[in-house]
Order: sequence, then structure tokens, then C-alpha cells
Amino acid sequence: MDRWSYVSLLLTIFFFPQLLLQSNASPEYIRQPPRPVILTPHHRSESDPQQVHISLVGKDHVRVSWVTSEKHVSSVVEYGKRAGRYDASAKGEHTSYHYFFYSSGEIHQVKIGPLEPSTTYYYRCGGSGPEFSFRTPPSTLPIEFAVVGDLGQTEWTASTLEHVAAKDYDVLLLPGDLSYADTQQPLWDSFGRLVEPYASRRPWMVTEGNHETETFPIIYPSGFKAYNARWPMPYEESGSQSNLYYSFDVAGTHVVMLGSYTDFDARSDQYKWLEADLAKVDRRKTPWLIVLLHAPWYNSNLAHKGEGESMRKAMEKMLRKARVDVVFAGHVHAYERFTRVYDNKADPCGPVHVTIGDGGNREGLALMFEEPSPSISLYREPSFGHGQLKILNNTHAHWSWHRNNDSNSVMADEVWLESLSSSKKCMEIAVEPSPSLTDEL
Ligand SMILES: *[C@@H]1O[C@H](CO)[C@@H](O)[C@H](O)[C@H]1NC(C)=O
Ligand SMILES: *[C@@H]1O[C@H](CO)[C@@H](O)[C@H](O)[C@H]1NC(C)=O
Ligand SMILES: [Fe+2]
Repeated sequence: MDRWSYVSLLLTIFFFPQLLLQSNASPEYIRQPPRPVILTPHHRSESDPQQVHISLVGKDHVRVSWVTSEKHVSSVVEYGKRAGRYDASAKGEHTSYHYFFYSSGEIHQVKIGPLEPSTTYYYRCGGSGPEFSFRTPPSTLPIEFAVVGDLGQTEWTASTLEHVAAKDYDVLLLPGDLSYADTQQPLWDSFGRLVEPYASRRPWMVTEGNHETETFPIIYPSGFKAYNARWPMPYEESGSQSNLYYSFDVAGTHVVMLGSYTDFDARSDQYKWLEADLAKVDRRKTPWLIVLLHAPWYNSNLAHKGEGESMRKAMEKMLRKARVDVVFAGHVHAYERFTRVYDNKADPCGPVHVTIGDGGNREGLALMFEEPSPSISLYREPSFGHGQLKILNNTHAHWSWHRNNDSNSVMADEVWLESLSSSKKCMEIAVEPSPSLTDEL
């Protein structure tokens, strides 16, 4: 860590009480006490890899990302199916970035593969340092996703991650708000080190939240500098022009990651990309179609009310037409599950909407929901926790939400989902919801 990083870190620690006061000052809702931020120090040597994490890229490849303080470490990953025996290796690239007085370490990105499905690989980054391992996801159903939003890096985050890891999931999906660095760049490094034990073992697929923007007038007008450098996702592979939205296929599931903090109106690149991406989905190959985004389109919490509304108005019709099964959102620091909805009404051919912005961020929980509960909202609770989506076969998936209870986690909500791809009625009818279908609910 250089001198400026230290200064920045100290400033962060000093200013935290003020930040907390600010968020508590909001009159609309009272938040439960958040738990302290954990700063995860760097324990390895300057040339050793730190902040190692992996993501899916293409059909059978994985991208390995890591940071070194030392600038002259080669971007090479050695890997193989036996511990300590690396019979393959791949080279990639590295980059670094500046943000005001902060300059990042060397950020390495290496694509490895082709890899076999459901297989454990052992790997080493940069030719030295510790060995890591990960398991590739299966090529066919069943598959199990962990879903966590608004993660942050507090003691709540640490317990959520422990609960997630206690189950044997395949891929983690994160609908935005990762580090809560909020321009304090050393907190991105600290976050990378906190999540490494988990994100180096399973692919983590993320999309951006408002805490990733880090825009600054004139100097950094377009933002996302740290996020794009540190968490590149397979956007090129999915025909997208931006790391802020992309899609990928994994084991019978097409996952679309949308960007709540970039243009989404009918003239935008994101809109046109989404239209083309959804048109390509073949439900015989990927019977499950799920979408993640940050600011929820449906939300009966008093926090962030209406913030996803313009995006909903722009894109909801497209998602319904494509028969999206589930939409996961974050942003609101609570859990809420809706029935299948379209245009604010129950609709058997619309997606189920779930808000899962309760990973453990420093801002605390969004405690107040509107009363009475709207009839389309089926379960809501302001507690930290995580979700589990087990897709069993072409037709059936089990969704559950697990509330953090100190050292253990408790399943508080669960539901069986049936893919819309198996609903003859929904696959046949026109785009507009018909009153007769709504009546059937
Ligand atoms: C899919 O899984 C569900 C739940 O376990 C089961 O009831 C159903 O029979 C399965 N369908 C097929 C085709 O195996
Ligand atoms: C929650 O945790 C407390 C203390 O750790 C424990 O006594 C209690 O049984 C737990 N509740 C559930 C439902 O697991
Ligand atoms: Fe957010």
C-alpha cells in the first residue's frame, strides 16, 4: 500500500461515523444498527496474487482476475485437475487505473479453458504464491445459484458469505452494490480480499449498482472506473458494448444482467442489445430465463420507492414478451417476493420479482414497508440474508431465502417455481396480457 492509500484509508475510517449519521438521518424509515465495516489487510508478498476471483466467460472458459502490488508480475495462470500439478497455462493481460491520488495495483485478467463441466481445477496466478481451486458449473441441469445483493464489507457481510459457502452452490449472482467503496479506492482492495476465499472458488457474476458509479463532475463523468477494471464480465461475448450489461448461458439457464445506471430507453444501446439478446434465446436449450438488475421495478418498501419506475416502463414489456421467469433486484436493503406480475397487476405470464438487497452493507436495513401490503407482494421482511435458486430440471426450480441468524442461517421463505417455457398458454398467447388469463389467478 502506498502513502496515499494509507491516507485514504484513514480518511475513510474517520468519516464513517458521519456517513452512518447521514444515512440514519433520513426521516422516511428507521434502520436497524448496521455492524462495523471489516477492513481486510494484505498479508501476502508484493508479487503474490491478492483479490483473486473468477467469472464465467463463454461456454467453457473461466476468467481469473487478481491484483498484485508489484507491477512486473506476468499475467499467467497455471492450472490442472490435480493439486500442485499444472499441465495447462494461459496468458492474459493486465491494467491499472488512477482515481484522484490513488493508483491501483496491477489488475490481471486471464481466460482459461476449455474446461470440463462439474470439475475441480487447481490453479496458481502469476507463477508463484498460493494455490487456489474452483469447480466449474455443470453443463446441464440441475444447477444451484446463490443470489446476494448489496453485499458491502461488514460483519454482516462476513456472516452472509459464510452461510452462502456452507451450501454447495455452483454460481453466485450479485445484482449490484459490491464494495461500498464510494470513491475510497482502498476499500475496493479490501473488498477483493474479503471475498477472495469465496470468489476464487466459484464463479461470481455481477452487475452494477449505484455504489459502483463513482462519477465525479468533469474529471470522471462516465464513472465505473474501478468496477470496470476490477470486475470485467463477459459483455463482448454476449454482443454488448458495455460491461454494464451482458448475458450468459449456464446449464439450461440464460441469465441477463441489466444495468440500472446506464441508458435504458428505447433509443439506447442497452435496449437494442436486450431486444436482440432476448430474440436469440432458445427455450429448448435454456428453458430458464432470469434477469438481474439493481433498482427494483416492484417494491413496497418505503426506501427507494419509484427509483426503478422509468426502467420498468421502458423494458417491462420486452421481458414479459420473452417470458422471463424471474427478475432479481437489489438496492432496497430488505427481502421481498412478488407473485408473477406485469404492469402492476398479477399476470401468470409475467416474471416473479424478488428484491434481495440484504447482503450485509454498512447502511443497515430498510425497515419500513407500505401498509397495507399490496396484494401482489407475497412475502417481505427487513433482515440480512441470501437467496438460493435450485433449478432442478426444465420445468421446476426451488427458490428460498435464508435470514442471517448470527452463526447460522434460517430459511424464512420458499416457493416452487415453474418455468414459463413449460406453460403452453404463456408460450402461445400474444404480448398484451389478456383479462381472461389474469382472472385465472
Ligand atoms: C422436475 O422436478 C420436479 C420437482 O422435483 C418433479 O416433480 C418433476 O417430476 C421433475 N420433472 C421431470 C420431467 O423430471
Ligand atoms: C438463532 O440463533 C440463536 C443464537 O445463536 C439460537 O439460539 C437460535 O436457536 C437460532 N434460531 C434458529 C431458528 O435457528
Ligand atoms: Fe443500491
